[in-house]
Amino acid sequence: MSERDRSATLPTEGVPADELLARIDAARADDLDWRGGRAFSLVYNSGDEAHETLLHAVADRYLHENALNPFRYPSLLQMELDLVAMGADLFGTGPDCGAVTAGGSMSIFCAVQVARGHARAAMDIAEPQILAPITAHPAFAKACDLLDIELVTVPVEADGRVAPDRLADAIGPRTAMLVASAANYPFGVIDPVADVAALAAGRGLLCHVDACLGGFILPFWERLGEPVPPWDLRVEGVTSLSADLHKYGYAFKGASLVLYRSRDLLRHQHFWYDSWPGGLYASSTPAGTRPAPPIAGAWAALMHLGEAGFLRLTQDVRVARDGFLAGIDAADGAEVSPTPDIGVFQVTTPGRSHDAVGDAMDARGWNLDRQQGGLHVMLSPYHRQVADRFGADLADSLADVPLTADAPTESSVSTYGGIAGT
Ligand SMILES: Cc1ncc(COP(=O)(O)O)c(C=O)c1O
Repeated sequence: MSERDRSATLPTEGVPADELLARIDAARADDLDWRGGRAFSLVYNSGDEAHETLLHAVADRYLHENALNPFRYPSLLQMELDLVAMGADLFGTGPDCGAVTAGGSMSIFCAVQVARGHARAAMDIAEPQILAPITAHPAFAKACDLLDIELVTVPVEADGRVAPDRLADAIGPRTAMLVASAANYPFGVIDPVADVAALAAGRGLLCHVDACLGGFILPFWERLGEPVPPWDLRVEGVTSLSADLHKYGYAFKGASLVLYRSRDLLRHQHFWYDSWPGGLYASSTPAGTRPAPPIAGAWAALMHLGEAGFLRLTQDVRVARDGFLAGIDAADGAEVSPTPDIGVFQVTTPGRSHDAVGDAMDARGWNLDRQQGGLHVMLSPYHRQVADRFGADLADSLADVPLTADAPTESSVSTYGGIAGT
């Protein structure tokens, strides 16, 4: 990584707007260009220009508004209520049983916080523990770390799913919540939610379904005829669910939903404080000041797309999935493993270093994240337009990388998250 410039100081005189914008445009030359379909997972590209234009217009209208005090902005409050109600309707809970958060990690943080509050208030567990498959998103580990909760992970089977028996064996006296993903990030595979939730209910535990990824695609995936096992709050025993608006909800960044089976659970998420001279302070999520554009943008995204728009974009993702899978199949030396449930999957390169294949793909303009066991692909609607190119470039990249008997099957590098300055 090149040396970063850390010499900036506040300019004595402000830089003129034109000059500044020109400078920004020049600096952005090295940024990931997602518009051409060469980016994965960081941006969900709907490929719908009218949708994009609308999001810009809505963000513009709410640029400076602050959702910290929703009563000052009734329009924003109503949008937030609408988002929760629409999510509740889609995923099967009451219209007042959730909140809009800033992203998947924050929704998961809230669910873990609620599990801690519930464990202490209703289960007589002072130091709760959470059980999750090893494939659960790192946001669970982060939330547990921040909230001083023990996270115990269990391995998944060859198909990428957690076996409920393994979770059952790991349940102990401090276990407060079980986790299942719909779908998980590394493999795009849906855990057996009904079995995990039944196990949780049978033992008096909470059960969170992480549908940050799948929440806004699975309902439409199923309606288009794809096999989708039960996964949401309609499943008995599921007590909370996270679903990201800024992923397959096609909103811009900073919007997610966390929903609960009951308002009693949601209450553990709320914070009230009046032991200072500044009046009563109340917040529904860990955030204080909350930017309005993500809320308004997510509301506009759902309203503008409607069911018909979601079905159309989901169909695009299906076409992209089919095209990518066909290209990978045709390329000599790559496999998709394990078999995914959605348009998110891992590509393995048996006998070849997948890091080296990833480098060869990078050289051709692709930007695939490396996992320990393979390359990560996450498809957006726009990717249907580049599926053929992907297959051809993968075939060429594989041809570039020699077969080695001792090619590592696991790599130590993973580039999905990062810290500025490291
Ligand atoms: C399954 C899953 N859960 C949680 C998250 C975290 O979401 P965010 O990056 O919005 O915090 C992701 C992100 O990709 C995810 O795929």
